[in-house]
Amino acid sequence: MKTMAKADRFEVGHQGRTAHGDTRAGFHSWRSTAVAGLAAALLLAGAAGAAAQSGNAAAPEATDAVPTFSRDVAPILQRSCQQCHQPAGIAPMSLLNYREARPWARSIRDRVERRLMPPWHLDTTVGIQDYKNDISLTPAEIDTVVRWVDAGAPEGNPADLPEPLEFPRADAWEVEAMLGRPPDFVVRSTPYDVLANGQDQWWNPEIEFEGFDEPRYIRAAEFKPSYPTGIKVTHHGHANLRSTAAEGEESVRTHLVGMGIGKRWDLLPEGVGKLLPPGPATLRFSLHYFPVGEPVTEVAEVGVWLYPEDEAPDKVTAGERQFYVDGTHRERLRASDILIPPHGHLVLEDQYVMDRPALIQSFRPHMHMRGTEMSMTALYPDGRRELLSNVNRYDHNWQIAYIYDDDAQPLLPKGTVLMLRAKWDNTAANRINPDPDQWVVFGARGVDEMSHAWIGITWLDDAEFEEMAAARAAAATPTDDGSQ
Ligand code: HEC
Repeated sequence: MKTMAKADRFEVGHQGRTAHGDTRAGFHSWRSTAVAGLAAALLLAGAAGAAAQSGNAAAPEATDAVPTFSRDVAPILQRSCQQCHQPAGIAPMSLLNYREARPWARSIRDRVERRLMPPWHLDTTVGIQDYKNDISLTPAEIDTVVRWVDAGAPEGNPADLPEPLEFPRADAWEVEAMLGRPPDFVVRSTPYDVLANGQDQWWNPEIEFEGFDEPRYIRAAEFKPSYPTGIKVTHHGHANLRSTAAEGEESVRTHLVGMGIGKRWDLLPEGVGKLLPPGPATLRFSLHYFPVGEPVTEVAEVGVWLYPEDEAPDKVTAGERQFYVDGTHRERLRASDILIPPHGHLVLEDQYVMDRPALIQSFRPHMHMRGTEMSMTALYPDGRRELLSNVNRYDHNWQIAYIYDDDAQPLLPKGTVLMLRAKWDNTAANRINPDPDQWVVFGARGVDEMSHAWIGITWLDDAEFEEMAAARAAAATPTDDGSQ
């Protein structure tokens, strides 16, 4: 096995936490908060949330009593908030104890009741509701928080407090905690000096990659801005590998990983891999920075976890693919269909006909500050229409990948039409709108607009599709004794 020329595995530097900086003069509500420690936290929280749901169902007697911080609210904060709201976390303030939480009570009530916190911006009334990383609160938990604040946010008896939690290191690779091993290789960008002030800045360095002799399969990849400063300026990043083509051959592009606020890694299910073609390649970073008022020299790292050398996964996936809603993929002016009037709205829809069967693993809408909603609907060949997921409280501060439970992954027969619909709100009612008096058009800055979804998709052959469809049908059929 060859290793990388310029980018062999190196010490993991100080990384991981995202600082919060509401530093953009004039853009108060657009917080340039980067994220780390987050995605892992989301998964942990998802598991805890599931446990919490069963717990809640069994405790209706608590409804009449006034909730207290120590007994009722602290356990909710531990399960669903503290992974981010702690000193080394990505959130602007820590919520570890009563003293820290009390001044935020009103704000907590507001965010929790509107389902803006914890960040999970999916419409919970329609579409698929089974996601691996669902960190949303149950209605009972929301009710507890609201009643606690309405009752004056009492502390209660500190003896009721749960044991304090311990948190993972802020600069760790998140996937390492999930897979139990460090990345197989790490590639590092060349440094970029992000100016203290100014507009968006872009940096697309290319790093030579010696590659492997044999084809290898990627299980996971993680994008890590440097810690503690790089994470403040990194708005998003992508890492793509392009194989060096021999004479007469086409080079192959492999999208390793995309990072956005609230999303840092791609971890494929066991048995699913992304092909890493053999031979040398160039790794191209595309990095989007936003200044935070102090000069920052940033180096991004991408860590990659492979399947063992002698192991090919059952399924090969393309990973996250970009599906445009605006007209960027058509032979017309770049997204000339985005034109949002002052104080106005816009809705765009685009369709993709699946020329092969496909399995969808995740849905990650991307718009900018005026974007408020994106939905994904399947129109099946038999005429059935199913709304799969609707992110109806989209918030540009967050780039959340909604990762379906294995059994809930949309399984699309060949000929399915996948419809993506984006909605923008350029009125003052959009709380992160920097200026409702502006016309808004396509562009790469946060104050311009775009619309696409990153969809984690695995193409299937007909036999694989038939097999999966049969397995699902069997699982859905009740057994003889009537139980499911
Ligand atoms: C995944 C990380 C994460 C989780 C989980 C999370 N928060 Fe947050 N929270 C943030 C970040 C980052 C911000 C700042 C950006 C924003 O407002 O979206 C924030 C902002 C807030 C604010 C607004 C603060 C302000 O400046 O006005 C409140 C209130 C809040 N969170 C409460 C909560 C509560 C309560 C929970 C749990 C029920 C929670 N959050 C869960 C990351 C998180």
